[in-house]
Amino acid sequence: MKALVLCGGSGTRLRPLSHSMPKQLIPVANQPVLVRVMGNLLELGITDVGVIVGDRRAEIEEVLGDGSSLGVRVTYLRQDAPLGLAHCVRLARDFLGDEDFVLYLGDTVLTDGITDLAAEFHATRPAAQLVVQKVADPRAFGVAETTEDGRVTGLVEKPQHPRTDLAVVGVYFLTSAIHRAVDAIRPSARGELEITDAIQWLVDQGLEVRASVYSGFWRDTGKVEEVLDCNRELLNSLTPEVVGEVDADSVLTGPVVVEPGARVVRSTITGPAIVGAGTLVTDSSIGPYTSIGAGCLLDTAGISDSIMLAGSSVCQVREVRGSVIGRGASVLTGMAQHRLVVGDHTRVEFAA
Ligand code: G1P
Repeated sequence: MKALVLCGGSGTRLRPLSHSMPKQLIPVANQPVLVRVMGNLLELGITDVGVIVGDRRAEIEEVLGDGSSLGVRVTYLRQDAPLGLAHCVRLARDFLGDEDFVLYLGDTVLTDGITDLAAEFHATRPAAQLVVQKVADPRAFGVAETTEDGRVTGLVEKPQHPRTDLAVVGVYFLTSAIHRAVDAIRPSARGELEITDAIQWLVDQGLEVRASVYSGFWRDTGKVEEVLDCNRELLNSLTPEVVGEVDADSVLTGPVVVEPGARVVRSTITGPAIVGAGTLVTDSSIGPYTSIGAGCLLDTAGISDSIMLAGSSVCQVREVRGSVIGRGASVLTGMAQHRLVVGDHTRVEFAA
């Protein structure tokens, strides 16, 4: 079985962070979402992974390389324009051959992995197997209609009036039947070749399409709120480990990771929280659900429920909450409470 991981798309809802970093590379609990995706594939024994990239290829390649450091073999496939998920399958025709494959949207976080789903696919081996989850507002997703035993009878992309609350998760188990489908469909109203239309085509041909309900935690990291949700969820299962230096005047409670080369001085850290490699924390308080990347600086700062990307700093700001601080960005001096979404290399200063 192969995998096709999609990393095109411009990530407009994650601006300004996505200006300088593809959304698939946003770190959650200090690990890029895309690296977690590779981990989930490896758990299935999949090592042959096609990665569809657009004009952010260089950044994606910098993290994944040829895949060998993650135990997979990556083949990059270029999509010149965002013409839809089914278009990606068309582009990957030669790479995929006639093998079964997992189509995985590179910004999808599934914290319980996908091994149970894969086992179900192998056991029943329908023409296609979707993954669905009940959501409160399905209008932003593909929406599936199913029979009680999980057979898909209909599929609509982002309907204004959804007929069920079953949203399609961005992981699809597919057989070579999909290749005829992606060739048969026409672009949707938004000008894209939709994978939902291709799968609906399979249903229309009378082929078996099944849906399994994912019971674990699922989010796309398409928006800042979702990135923070994922961060909280992943930190909930953090294994504490202190490798860096923590001085005698500092107090660590709850699960805390202090990575190599990090220093914590006269500070309190309440887990779950991670302090990245080489980061310096002085006279600060780090609250729960905070992931601090590598080479950051916190001085007389208070931060909780937030993500700091590599090389960013927060100094003399007492209450940063629910925030994402981009790479190399600095946040300085302030007395009141603030909520921030700061793009990479941005500088924010508060008057005292
Ligand atoms: C895509 C699919 C949609 C699916 C969603 C899951 O939408 O087209 O059917 O529900 O991913 O994340 P997108 O978010 O790319 O617009």
